[in-house]
Order: sequence, then C-alpha cells, then structure tokens
Amino acid sequence: MNKKALFQLSYGVYIVCSQYEQNFSGCIINTTTQITAEEKPKISIAVNKENYTNELIQKSKKANISVLLQTTPFEFIGKFGFRTGREFDKLEGTNYKMGNNKIPVITENTNAYLECNVLQSIDVGTHTLFILEVEEAEVLGENPVLTYDYYHRVIKGFTPPKASTYQGN
Ligand SMILES: Cc1cc2nc3c(=O)[nH]c(=O)nc-3n(C[C@H](O)[C@H](O)[C@H](O)COP(=O)(O)O)c2cc1C
Repeated sequence: MNKKALFQLSYGVYIVCSQYEQNFSGCIINTTTQITAEEKPKISIAVNKENYTNELIQKSKKANISVLLQTTPFEFIGKFGFRTGREFDKLEGTNYKMGNNKIPVITENTNAYLECNVLQSIDVGTHTLFILEVEEAEVLGENPVLTYDYYHRVIKGFTPPKASTYQGN
C-alpha cells in the first residue's frame, strides 16, 4: 500500500474547543467534515484519545469549532497544535467569546465558528470519531481560510504524531 496516496486528500485547519466544569482545552484538527445539511447540520471530527480536548468533549458532550484564516501565525498553531492544555491555560492571551452553549469559542484568526453537541462517539483506535450536531453558527469574516495543503506547502508546518494524518515528518 502506498500511503502517500492519502496525502492527496484535502482538508481545512480548525480549532476544536471544549470545557468541563472549570477545565478548558482546544486543539488544532484538520478532520472536520460536513455530513448533512438539513435543519441542524451534522459534522464529524476525529480527535486523538490522548488529547486533553478529547477527554473534555467526552465529559461535556459539547465541542465548538473555529475555522482558521490563511494568515494564522505559526506560533498560534503551535499553541493549540503542539502543546497540551493539561499544562497551561490556552485561553490566556487568546481572543475568545463564550458560546451560547457555555463553551468558549476561539475568535482570533477565525473566519467562522460552529457550536455543537455530541450525538455519537465512535472508537476508531487511536482516535475518537465524534458525530456532532451544529446548534449555532456564525460568520466573522470573508478572508481566505487556511487549508492543510497551504499549511504544509507555504507555512512549511509539520504534523505532530497525534494528528489523524500523521505519517512521520
Ligand atoms: C496541522 C495539525 C493538524 C492536526 N490534526 C489533528 C487531528 O485531526 N486530530 C487530532 O486529534 N489532533 C490533531 N492535531 C494534534 C493536536 O492539535 C495536538 O495533539 C494538541 O497539542 C492537543 O492538545 P490538547 O492536549 O490540549 O487537546 C493536529 C495538529 C496540527 C498542527
């Protein structure tokens, strides 16, 4: 099998956040996919079981997703994508608002956001596939969004081992 074929799949880059009681985290994911459109749209996300964000989504049954802009600085991606919220407060120094579902939504470097409830959690080995129902959605701007391809080719960013698409760097 030539797993390089999987590099030809296209993705965006997002932050998924969750909070349970006073505990918050959010992490970068590229695995947000819309599944259905009618009434309350359904989407899926794949989150590594070792990510703190996974634990908080499992407990709160809520997840808010911010769509990142193409101009997002690498340091910002580093804060959410290479460090764990178990060790520091990712909200400190980050622009956010409280969602209607009482879970913070990152508004910095963000074009749009979705507030979601967990409908199903599917164990897929290293990751949990969460099926989410969108309860609220807002557009914050019209600037180009960050794609996974742009992240690799232009920003020259790399992918940490907990990402769904990791195949070594
Ligand atoms: C470009 C990029 C894409 C990523 N995609 C995913 C993903 O789809 N799923 C995932 O679980 N982690 C993904 N990660 C890794 C998490 O963002 C990372 O493990 C994060 O530090 C977890 O933080 P937490 O422990 O506070 O939840 C990605 C990271 C980067 C930089």
